[in-house]
Amino acid sequence: TAQSDDFVIDDELITKIFKPRDHFSHKGNYGKCIISGGSYGKMGAVVLAGKAALHAGSGLTFVLAPGCGYNILQTSCPEAMFINGGEKVISRIKIQQNSVYGIGSGMGTEDVTAKSLLMFLETYHDPLVLDADALNILSKEKHRLNLIPKKSIITPHPKEFERLFGTTENSFERLNLAREKAKELNIIIVLKDHHTQIITPKEKVYYNVTGNSGLAKGGSGDVLTGIITSLLAQKYSSEEAAVLGVWLHGKSADSAAEKYSKESMQPGNVVQELGNVFLELNKRKF
Ligand code: APR
Ligand code: MG
Repeated sequence: TAQSDDFVIDDELITKIFKPRDHFSHKGNYGKCIISGGSYGKMGAVVLAGKAALHAGSGLTFVLAPGCGYNILQTSCPEAMFINGGEKVISRIKIQQNSVYGIGSGMGTEDVTAKSLLMFLETYHDPLVLDADALNILSKEKHRLNLIPKKSIITPHPKEFERLFGTTENSFERLNLAREKAKELNIIIVLKDHHTQIITPKEKVYYNVTGNSGLAKGGSGDVLTGIITSLLAQKYSSEEAAVLGVWLHGKSADSAAEKYSKESMQPGNVVQELGNVFLELNKRKF
């Protein structure tokens, strides 16, 4: 039962949000993003998020990961710079000004990692993206959910949402709880599912209809985190970054499914297809 402030994300809205690149621009115009996560054995998550951030257009992309990921990251994402955040897991999240953070992919929930995230959030107050293990850490520190900077974007899947905010009877109740929490915490909630919903602090709800079951694979969420962080770094508002990011992710997945099938397509293919979707968006603008 949709309310009056509920929107389906359609082509018209996306064309309105999308900003083509200015011919006379330089990398400084497209922001810095810092994809933070990874742990021994889960470096792929941050590789995918980092690649997604690069392919979504940010001016400078950093990956903050434990040192054991150094070779992996420098080899698989040579365009991204590496920031050492510990040894086998993240134990410090260095604050770099004028950068947008996307935290959580493959990060793990070790005590040192949890401490480093909470310390970071105590001193960092700009909008950022929190996903996966960053949310799982906060689920165990519910009284500190108010540390999430205002206008930040969180991207829980249904289980992560439940861990954060509690169980609900059905998806209608879950959406109502999400509205309540987005308002209370002044954040944007990207409630990931086959039809992802984006809930704003003003309790506006956007429904996404791009994407397909080829995304139902480990790593798809990490790609979304990278895309949204990259868009936020490029000065899209938090609401725009979430809406455009979710739509782009689904649209690229649809393109990947046509080429490789829903069965075989990989999250990495979704990253590769971003380019074709941007080509389409640019055509619409001119
Ligand atoms: N149709 C459309 N989109 C879908 C479908 C579907 N049937 N199934 C999944 N998706 C999309 C979701 O909307 C979301 O954007 O794929 C993405 C899946 O994201 P996650 O659930 O976060 O999956 P994953 O990438 O595996 O997460 C990586 O982080 O959240 C933790 O426990 C998780 O270890 C895992 C890691
Ligand atoms: Mg995930």
